[in-house]
Amino acid sequence: MRNQVIILDFGAQYTQLIARSIRELKVYCQVIPGDAPVSEIRACVDPLGQDVPGAIILSGGPDSVYEEGVVLPDPAIFELGCPVLGICYGMQAMAKVLGGSLARGPAGGAREYGPEVLRVAVKDGIFEGFPEETRVWMSCGDTVDEVPRGFSVTGSTENTKVAAMADPVRKLFGVGFHPEVKNTALGRELIANFLFRVASLEPDWTMGRFVERTVREIREKVGDAHVVAGVSGGVDSTVCAVLVHKAVGDKLHPILVDHGLMRQDEAAYVVDAMARLGVGVKLVNAEERFLSRLRGVTDPERKRKIIGEEFIRVFEEEAEKLGGVEYILQGTIYPDVIESGSRTRNVIKSHHNVGGLPERMNLRLLEPIRELFKDEVRLLGKELGLSDEFVGRHPFPGPGLAVRVLGEITREKLDVVRKAQAILDEEIRRAGLYEELWQCFCVLPNVRTVGVMEDRRTYGHVVAIRAVHSEDAMTAEWARLPYEVLERVSTRIVNEVHDATRVVLDITSKPPSTIEWE
Ligand code: XMP
Repeated sequence: MRNQVIILDFGAQYTQLIARSIRELKVYCQVIPGDAPVSEIRACVDPLGQDVPGAIILSGGPDSVYEEGVVLPDPAIFELGCPVLGICYGMQAMAKVLGGSLARGPAGGAREYGPEVLRVAVKDGIFEGFPEETRVWMSCGDTVDEVPRGFSVTGSTENTKVAAMADPVRKLFGVGFHPEVKNTALGRELIANFLFRVASLEPDWTMGRFVERTVREIREKVGDAHVVAGVSGGVDSTVCAVLVHKAVGDKLHPILVDHGLMRQDEAAYVVDAMARLGVGVKLVNAEERFLSRLRGVTDPERKRKIIGEEFIRVFEEEAEKLGGVEYILQGTIYPDVIESGSRTRNVIKSHHNVGGLPERMNLRLLEPIRELFKDEVRLLGKELGLSDEFVGRHPFPGPGLAVRVLGEITREKLDVVRKAQAILDEEIRRAGLYEELWQCFCVLPNVRTVGVMEDRRTYGHVVAIRAVHSEDAMTAEWARLPYEVLERVSTRIVNEVHDATRVVLDITSKPPSTIEWE
């Protein structure tokens, strides 16, 4: 499919925002590692490798082009004939590969981080329709000093001579600021100019098209094989199972592994909800097995790996019983992919369905929604006929309560967090806050403190409350829950949950924290 953009990722946390902006403009895009050779880029666009993308974007990144061994794009991408836009590090990398010269930091030594005024020198190409001056968001260490042959300077700021450059003949563009962040006033217009005026792409990417294309691809890939699907009750795995059910019907075998790390009454709720959607789910009780493997384990990454591996082993056993199963379906979504790291980006945490998978697996992975953001998954769910209530459920991590019980996991601690969570859910719904929150949950920090009840000393768990607003889980802001609600939750938790003596509130945003505590 030529009508798409390939984003080469050099590791900036903003890379997903580029993808988002492009999708919002209804153009399909994929993000792949920045050093992908042209053959890999071609293979993304067309399985036979005969076509090239409609456009390529080089993302920003934390490296300095001066460092040894930094990741650079395959020089052959500039010969493909498709337009290329380099952003910050992407522009410097483009200049370096094409023979321009670079400088450490802007002339005069003043580095530019934050808002700046861009003076637009050439008002066409990506700057068509732009005013003389516009506000942009800079966050670059190095800059381009001399543009490569064929390029001219198309924009500057007070401290940065080459804040934008272009070779209109080869349709190569670079900007030293971030058009993908909201603080760049005309960032969206710049990206739209690049996609539609420069690259002549069509805005044809809709959820309907996504379903059509993905169903076709799943059928081609899976053929006559059977697929086992892990459903956790979360939106991602459910939407994913319904999508694949549409593609392969009864050859899909959804399995709910109850690892003992689920919320109160969750397993039954999920089986029931899926049955109402016409999709039968097999419930496998594996609580003892998971908890015994987790006994004595305290390291968060180790816990994730154990759970990831055990999941796969259960699925393999179930697949063995069914026969003819070749694939395992996972509801991996894009933030999981980004945060689990890649050749060109650091690991933040191993999401159990990406980096947490064991190296040796008998089943092949099927991950049809790995390029979607959460809000896109919700749109997809609606497109597939799921109710607003279902697609609006808060995300729940695959490793379940294991990432919310810090330190060693025991049944007793799990029970405390489960009961506290049920109270929190009830009160948040009663206050009409559920829909406006991204997530709201209880964590057991593995700390015991002294309390006093009925004139007697108690010594029990601290329960922490985490409530956040977010659009796509890549960033999150802690939610200012009303004091009355917090008071009710706190009182009920210490009164109703045996062994809980104290309730605290987590008031950190992401970054610097992550949403889950582990
Ligand atoms: P963090 O904690 O990384 O979480 O800020 C971002 C979002 O992802 C969810 N999460 C997971 N989901 N498998 C999942 O399916 C995982 O291993 C996992 N870890 C975190 C988390 O609940 C939040 O919505």
